[in-house]
Amino acid sequence: MKIDAVTIFPEYFAPLKLSLLGKAQESGIVEFGIYDLRAFATNLHNQVDDTPYGGGAGMVMMPEVWGQALDPLMSAETDLIILTPAGKRFDQSMAAKFSKASHLVFACGRYEGIDDRVRQYYVSKNYRVHEVSIGDYVLGGGEVASLVMIEAITRLIPGVLGNPESLAEESHNEQGYLEYPNFTKPQNWRDIPVPEILLSGNHGEIAKWRAEQAIERAKENL
Ligand code: ADE
Repeated sequence: MKIDAVTIFPEYFAPLKLSLLGKAQESGIVEFGIYDLRAFATNLHNQVDDTPYGGGAGMVMMPEVWGQALDPLMSAETDLIILTPAGKRFDQSMAAKFSKASHLVFACGRYEGIDDRVRQYYVSKNYRVHEVSIGDYVLGGGEVASLVMIEAITRLIPGVLGNPESLAEESHNEQGYLEYPNFTKPQNWRDIPVPEILLSGNHGEIAKWRAEQAIERAKENL
């Protein structure tokens, strides 16, 4: 999978070199391209934003610079993802869908967002365009949101996780269940013992207990 991101802060994407994502890159499963939006600015001061038409606080990112940056990246293979708190809520099932894509482009807006004509333009040219939010809170920009999405999406690509069984085990989470609580050694820690059932060796009963616990936990965290 090819993943591109356009941002005024390319340094935000340094963590892509770490851990599973770094390995996935080395093995050629994913390829990242990080583009500095300012390199596409057309005016003297490399300005990328301006005041909003109609008035109001904040600045809006100008369409021309975004058009210049995105045009060379877009193809029939591309899913363009525009990060905005007003977008569709990202969840595990959306991650699963994007994990089957071949080319993702993340457009990281800052300030009050990107001039809406950028979205309108690529929609009008029949590209697949998605406005996505990672949750009901406002971040300083789309960079951290992109990283969250990239991590959730890429770990679902075959070959990225060391142990593919952990994917199979959590697959039901896509239907909205949370995971059961986990325990490892020692058997007793600060007078808190590991639940007896997990030491029983009875796999049927263990699976049943874990399912109950997962539901309990989901209810508590509603
Ligand atoms: N940009 C600012 N806040 C955001 C959010 N919650 N999700 C995606 N992009 C954003």
